[in-house]
Amino acid sequence: MRKLLGIVAFASGLFAQIPVADPLVVAKCSGCHRKDDKGNLSRISFVRSAPEGWQQALKRMVRLHGVQLTPEEARRVVQYLSDQHGLAPEEAKPGIYYFEKRHLDQEKYPEAVRDACVSCHPYGQSMNWRRTAEEWDLLVNMHIGYFPVVQWNSFTGMRREGGGPAAAANTADARTPVERAIEQMKKDFPLETKEWAEWTASRRQAKLAGRWLLSAAQAGKGQFVGEVSIEPGANPNEWVTRSKMTSVENGQTVTREGRSVIYTGYSWRGRSGAKDTALREVMLVSRDQNQIEGRWFWGAYDEFGYDVKLVRAEERPVILSATPGVLRTGQTATVRIHGDQFPARLAAGDLDFGAGVTVDKVTQQGPGLIEVQVSVAAKAAVGPRDVAVKRSVSAGAMVIYDTVDYIRTATDTAIARLGGGSGAFQKGYMQFEAIGFNRGLDGKPNTADDIRLGPLKAEWSMEEFFAVYGDDDLQYVGQMDRNGFFTPNVEGPNPKRKFSRNNYGEVWAVATYKGADAAPQKDGKPLTAKCYLLVTVPQYMRWDQPEVAQ
Ligand code: HEC
Ligand code: HEC
Repeated sequence: MRKLLGIVAFASGLFAQIPVADPLVVAKCSGCHRKDDKGNLSRISFVRSAPEGWQQALKRMVRLHGVQLTPEEARRVVQYLSDQHGLAPEEAKPGIYYFEKRHLDQEKYPEAVRDACVSCHPYGQSMNWRRTAEEWDLLVNMHIGYFPVVQWNSFTGMRREGGGPAAAANTADARTPVERAIEQMKKDFPLETKEWAEWTASRRQAKLAGRWLLSAAQAGKGQFVGEVSIEPGANPNEWVTRSKMTSVENGQTVTREGRSVIYTGYSWRGRSGAKDTALREVMLVSRDQNQIEGRWFWGAYDEFGYDVKLVRAEERPVILSATPGVLRTGQTATVRIHGDQFPARLAAGDLDFGAGVTVDKVTQQGPGLIEVQVSVAAKAAVGPRDVAVKRSVSAGAMVIYDTVDYIRTATDTAIARLGGGSGAFQKGYMQFEAIGFNRGLDGKPNTADDIRLGPLKAEWSMEEFFAVYGDDDLQYVGQMDRNGFFTPNVEGPNPKRKFSRNNYGEVWAVATYKGADAAPQKDGKPLTAKCYLLVTVPQYMRWDQPEVAQ
């Protein structure tokens, strides 16, 4: 019977609202957000969000509604609300790209929200909230209140070609875009979820102190390995970090000191490095608290970043990476394995790279690095291989291939922003990357079994993208270096340009690959790939949403 009652209560939402127990939140918010006899504050007890979501709402309370908070109080309120009215890890993961400031080619969202919700801000803003049905309706009212014009454009679809009442009449669906969108949001993102119920029941305080092993990658710069020491900070959610990263490509090492906060028991927001070169860190701690993964980023548009993975160092060998991570058939090569706690006195037989690869000799060894000579059989099957050092294995750490059959740019589209002229706006750069592919075992390119070979050294150039007749974008937009790093031109009207246009434009970024391992092409030409690059004006208006950290 109790179980049944539990289910009924769960289904009917009796336990849905989240009472506010924190005296500071009650003191600061209950003046306007009425408190009921169960300790619920109106609005606040009926929504959940990530730390950035809470910070954004809070900033609006300060900016528009006169709420007064010291920075320390604001931090405490964001901490409390993110912890108690937060997202479960499974709920946060799909939308974390928004806070990691990743530049996506194409954001994924349901068709139903396209017209009403993604015209002003990315879907990432919407999908990082959970609300009762009533709260989703109130959110619509909030938008109409602040941006009345949405009533005539995004929300009703009258602005769009093919939208509006006429189009609606042609379909069976007579709902306005906003009605459709909000129905979808209510279905996909209710307040009460199994994930949140489970997380609140099972979560533990994050205990992160200790030594962590770092592996990272940066577009255009390759792989990095290193260590992070995480020590307790001023309170149980705060941590002090010291990291050391070494480029696998050129051996350069960078050390940084930082601070971070853990929200909701798993969500890391940090900052590290000297003030003018500081990185922001957004990462998620795994449920077993042995891995932390995310992005460390910087740049005026957060366009530079490392994809970072930390694993807890333990009293056992760990393989972080093997470089080069691809080996060609019939080749002999030197492979360096980076890791931790490697055993001493290793012989060639203690290492294994799988079928078709012979480890000829160990040429160097230490607790964090093993260097070996390997030869790959001419007939070795193409595909991924595990790398093993005695009983430690890194699955798929190596790929065997014969030829690079085609290349692709890392994304299909890219954006860069003019700047650096007046001093008011910084440039928004773009680092391109070309990725090599092998046709795979079926012998056919562009099929599901194709093998990704990772970034390769292509030569980069630009070509005109013909959109506007005679605008000669190539001359104005900026410079591409051979390694695919694009530096945009300065902003502002250019008197040398027709109509004194800004230096904006559309071009193709073109990668050409001439490596000896490139598969010969029928026309004798080298492998190429193109990415559409939009070089546009500075972002004159920005939503104020810095990341939540120290
Ligand atoms: C002076 C009155 C006032 C105080 C105090 C106040 N709010 Fe609000 N709050 C509002 C109003 C008005 C709205 C509706 C309009 C809006 O969303 O901006 C609102 C809406 C909200 C919403 C819903 C926003 C959404 O996404 O739909 C949240 C969450 C919120 N407030 C949080 C807080 C928190 C947390 C505090 C205490 C730190 C607080 N408010 C204090 C006036 C106030
Ligand atoms: C007219 C442009 C516009 C459209 C269209 C729009 N939004 Fe927003 N939305 C905003 C802005 C601006 C903010 C930030 C308000 C602020 O500064 O606090 C916002 C904030 C939000 C927030 C954060 C709530 C909070 O308390 O800050 C959510 C969630 C959201 N929007 C969801 C949606 C959904 C869902 C739709 C589609 C039904 C939508 N938005 C359509 C402009 C828009």
